[in-house]
Amino acid sequence: MTKTTPRLRGEDLTLAYDERTIARDLDLEIPDGSFTVIVGPNACGKSTVLRALARMLKPTAGRVLLDGQHIHSLPSKEVARRLGLLPQTATAPDGITVADLVARGRFPHQKLLRQWSRDDERAVDAAMASTRVSELADRAVDELSGGQRQRVWIAMALAQETPILLLDEPTTYLDIAHQIEVLNLCAQLHEEQDRTMVAVLHDLNHATRYATHLVALKEGRVVAQGDPGEIVTARLVEEVFGLPCVVVPDPETGTPLVVPRARTSRLGRDSAHPAVHAAAHAPAARPAGGAA
Ligand SMILES: Nc1ncnc2c1ncn2[C@@H]1O[C@H](COP(=O)(O)OP(=O)(O)OP(=O)(O)O)[C@@H](O)[C@H]1O
Ligand SMILES: [Mg+2]
Repeated sequence: MTKTTPRLRGEDLTLAYDERTIARDLDLEIPDGSFTVIVGPNACGKSTVLRALARMLKPTAGRVLLDGQHIHSLPSKEVARRLGLLPQTATAPDGITVADLVARGRFPHQKLLRQWSRDDERAVDAAMASTRVSELADRAVDELSGGQRQRVWIAMALAQETPILLLDEPTTYLDIAHQIEVLNLCAQLHEEQDRTMVAVLHDLNHATRYATHLVALKEGRVVAQGDPGEIVTARLVEEVFGLPCVVVPDPETGTPLVVPRARTSRLGRDSAHPAVHAAAHAPAARPAGGAA
């Protein structure tokens, strides 16, 4: 079987800020049409990698290829029509309204005279509806709650309507229901529109549920990558995060569910609760890999 070259990949990347090298000899392929999730401890380089993939950070060595072309040789607007990035921290211009900020996502699609088209209108309305911010359209972004603001930024990234979308911690600030809603939306974009989604997530159980391709980073190196059902083990979590845990099948999806070890166990150190023991030995409830 011949393997096709993915649209987005990094080859031999060295990523650095001035003197500080964050990653060296890093190779990373983002499978086309995947929902790739990047996990790893704080400061391991997740945002740095995402920024390099999005042309926001120039590698000191190596190259990022988009459709076989050196991403830094492409005009920024050209890149922005194919690839969108929601950064981990973004600041909105003072006083800008929600509708105006989301509309900025359409900039790469506009011609020199920047005429606002029906297509732009449709994309902005759809992005605001799917992130449930339509009713906030006339509010000032800087007067919103953290979670509302996060959904507005996601709407802006969606309005860009790129085939590849990179999201750095899209669920930060969101309550559990909104987290699931955003992840379901990402899964839907990936499944129904064949878009390539890449997200940095801290919640390992969300990562294992939603990722079709999981990348575990540590100190700027890829420690493991692949199907979460195959690569996520207690040993991997311990190696990457230094966290003792047990891994049991998620009762809802059958994907790996990471349960941190309790500080003290009322049942004694070596005996897990009978329910955990039963779950650990039960067959997966549903085929692994299915999103919620
Ligand atoms: N603009 C910058 N200038 C200098 N050093 C930076 C800069 N941005 C990040 N770093 C450093 O690079 C390293 C990797 O940072 P990065 O933001 O990629 O981590 P991360 O994995 O995204 O962490 P987190 O989970 O906290 O978001 C850290 O040591 C950080 O201090
Ligand atoms: Mg980060």
